[in-house]
Amino acid sequence: MYLRKAESRRTVEAPAKLNLYLEVLGRRNDGYHELETLMVPVRLYDTLSLVPTQPGRDGVPATGRAGRRVSAGAIHLHIRPAHFLAEGRQPDLPPMGEQNLVVRALESLRRQSGCQHGARIELVKRIPTAAGLGGASSDAAAVLRLANQAWGLDWSDDRLTELAAEVGSDVPFFLKHGAAVCRGRGERVEPVAGAFPLHFVIVKPPIGLNTRDVYHAHDQTPAATVGKDADRLEALLRALRRGKLTELGCWMGNRLQSAAAVLSPWIEQARAAFAKLDFLAHQLSGSGSAYFGLCRHASHARRLATILRTRQLGLVYITRSCR
Ligand code: C5P
Repeated sequence: MYLRKAESRRTVEAPAKLNLYLEVLGRRNDGYHELETLMVPVRLYDTLSLVPTQPGRDGVPATGRAGRRVSAGAIHLHIRPAHFLAEGRQPDLPPMGEQNLVVRALESLRRQSGCQHGARIELVKRIPTAAGLGGASSDAAAVLRLANQAWGLDWSDDRLTELAAEVGSDVPFFLKHGAAVCRGRGERVEPVAGAFPLHFVIVKPPIGLNTRDVYHAHDQTPAATVGKDADRLEALLRALRRGKLTELGCWMGNRLQSAAAVLSPWIEQARAAFAKLDFLAHQLSGSGSAYFGLCRHASHARRLATILRTRQLGLVYITRSCR
């Protein structure tokens, strides 16, 4: 996570993620599901900037630009889309108020640290919401890093990670750098060394999916719980380290895909369209609704994205893995 500073404004790019592998190992007593997943960050970024405000001072900017504004106590968040859709529509933006993960993360950090400062945050959204691309979690992780510096807290990575796990299962992953195997709810992160650069095409259907609904649908399906397939993950990691793309494609998979397909017809439409093209592998990311394919190289990704753009499946992104 590369942090830029100009006067009191700190800015950071928050990447999206793709799940190359996701296995649900079982349902837990706390209602969550025990997971084993391999996630890679990709070069599709939201931009967050934070200006710290003094205790007792408002600090709400008086601009009238397009977007949405949330004010929760000392935290003022302005969200705007990076671009408008072709039809001039505004893309879906994250929920507002206390439901917003950026606000929740900062409120938790203030509460737990006893910090009296506030913050003005500008969030430029490029990562689609309700897509399984981790946008909200990445934004939350980014803003925790920014505030940790801007408020002079100097919390260690471990302490920040503990708080991040309370904010959301995927947030700790975004505090680390690069690909990682995540276990537990997703909050136990084990970085993967030496991951090879990967090229992808992502399609985001017009309708998103709610994570909770997808897990619920998964619980209703007969093959809801499968065993831990350590060999498969090991084989995948070996292929990833060695840059064996075809092999990597063979071991990819996402246990939540069939549940997501029950909830949204877009998933099957995307699958069918990807299956007609020469992707090395293709699948749902996280709980969806974004669907992605693994490509051989950048020009392969550009060629397949051009074809998919004619299929009216939703927004099409070309991207690659990043650190
Ligand atoms: O942790 P997070 O707030 O991102 O999770 C959103 C929802 O997704 C949870 O309320 C839960 O229903 C579901 N979930 C789950 N098991 C996980 C992660 C998320 O059941 N490991």
